[in-house]
Formats: sequence, structure tokens, C-alpha cells
Amino acid sequence: MQGLTVGEIASRSGVAVSAIHFYERKGLIASHRTEGNQRRFDRAVLRRIALIKVAQQLGVPLAEVAEQLSVLPKDRAPDHRDWQKIATRWSQQLNHRIHMLEALRDNLDGCIGCGCLSMTKCTVINPGDCLADEGQGAVALTEMAAVEG
Ligand code: FES
Repeated sequence: MQGLTVGEIASRSGVAVSAIHFYERKGLIASHRTEGNQRRFDRAVLRRIALIKVAQQLGVPLAEVAEQLSVLPKDRAPDHRDWQKIATRWSQQLNHRIHMLEALRDNLDGCIGCGCLSMTKCTVINPGDCLADEGQGAVALTEMAAVEG
């Protein structure tokens, strides 16, 4: 099996050679060696790179991409069913992030012009008063001061 060179993969996928090497180092794609010890990639790698590009567009963390790619069969390109499962998962994660960002934006609207940066009142710094369980007063500042020595 001869396969494609890194340059051919780069040109067909529209991804820089350096990015392809990065994906390989991170275990997202794999190559094999020819008898002459030259690196070659199976055509199936193009589908994996397409999936990585989609993930980048969606802001999916690299660790999540690696996890999803790790369960795909190594001997063939991801197919329609593979993609549907991943797309469903990433769609749910995207919806969750959208809700979180909308809540953050709504809280930020209340902050604009305030500038109090209160650890207890500001819902951006302390959403849902999550620091209340950790004690009274400027808990975060006390912890920061302890870390900074
Ligand atoms: S900065 Fe005052 S409420 Fe957020």
C-alpha cells in the first residue's frame, strides 16, 4: 500500500503540512512507512482531517476531537453513521455552550457601567453565588493572595 505523501494530503485537504504533522503528533491521524522509510497516509485520513476542520469551526476542544477519533475504526474512513453520532454529540455540546454564553452575556449586561467587581454581588465573577459555600467575604481574593504568597 503506497498511500499519499504529506504534501498530497495538505493539498487535498487545504491544511498546512505543519498542521498535519501536529495532528499526527496528537494522535488524531496516523501514517505508515514505505519500504524506503517514507511517510505515507491512507486516503481515509482526508475524512478525519475534514472532521477535525468541522470541529475547529464549532470550537470543539482538541481533547474531545481526539476522544471521538480514537473510537473510529482505523482501517476505514469515518462513514455517515460515524459522523451522525459525533455530530449529535457535538450539537448537544454546542447548545450547552450557547446557553452558557447567553447567560454570561445577560449577566454582563448588568455589569456594564457598574465596575464594582464585587465578589459577592457580581454575577459574572460569581455566577449563582458559587463562592458562598466556601465562606464569607472576599473568598477568591483571599485564595489569590495565598497563592501569590
Ligand atoms: S461588576 Fe458590578 S455587578 Fe459585575
